[in-house]
Amino acid sequence: MAIANQKGGVGKTTTAINLGTALAAVGERVLLVDADPQGNASTGLGVPKARRTTTLYDVLVGGAPMGSAIVNTAVPGLDIIPADADLSGAEIELSGHSRRSYLLREAVSRLAADGHQYNYLLIDCPPSLNLLTVNAMTAADAVLVPLQCEFFALEGLTQLMRTVELVRGSLNPALEIQGVVLTMYDRRNSLSEQVAADVRGHFGDKVYDAVIPRNVRVSEAPSFGKPALIYDLKCAGSQAYLRLAREVVRREGARRAKIAA
Ligand SMILES: Nc1ncnc2c1ncn2[C@@H]1O[C@H](COP(=O)(O)OP(=O)(O)O)[C@@H](O)[C@H]1O
Ligand SMILES: [Mg+2]
Repeated sequence: MAIANQKGGVGKTTTAINLGTALAAVGERVLLVDADPQGNASTGLGVPKARRTTTLYDVLVGGAPMGSAIVNTAVPGLDIIPADADLSGAEIELSGHSRRSYLLREAVSRLAADGHQYNYLLIDCPPSLNLLTVNAMTAADAVLVPLQCEFFALEGLTQLMRTVELVRGSLNPALEIQGVVLTMYDRRNSLSEQVAADVRGHFGDKVYDAVIPRNVRVSEAPSFGKPALIYDLKCAGSQAYLRLAREVVRREGARRAKIAA
């Protein structure tokens, strides 16, 4: 699942970390792929630069097997492919590569054969519709779009939807949008409520019932290198991510049932 929105600061990384942790908590085996050169998911999961010896850059540009880049996190059942600033060079370095859009997909497809079994791969995309995001969407079955409850929430979504359509039309016909998650919802702010209503009007039942509240505990957790669910399981943000995980599992079950039928 590609966690994508070309806007920065909307909660992609926070969702990748905490949805990943919540899925692991309900018994799924999860691999988080940090596809942002800022490496925030790696930092937020407590993987220091010194432990990022093999990164997504080495996989995409250097052809390293993905299995060699797996780092275990402190959360049982949650592993990560870390990223660092090297990844910012990938776009230019791969520009002449004929299969440049398929590199992540091909790396992922070798994982199981190399003995690495996961139920969910979550790809934390950069804040751009660049080659890394295209690789994520080409490798994914589904896209999860975090939308921040602020005035310009829907702005830029046309380009995001167009990118999804383009990838579906050429690189990955199976791609679908699994859902839209409202993030940083502030119930004391009437604007949040208005934005949530607008987004539900626009996306209908694609919007998850679970809404992620604005919550200080969620924003504090990464500085301790911990998911919010480990830092403070009881806080409203952690509980919302647990509800989101259950919805994600339900929707993925429905997708698989449709394919099997
Ligand atoms: N539910 C939340 N409550 C409070 N702060 C949040 C919440 N979700 C994200 N943040 C904060 O907002 C900022 C941007 O979030 P982040 O997940 O890094 O966005 P993105 O990956 O889309 O750039 C971070 O400082 C993060 O801690
Ligand atoms: Mg991010």
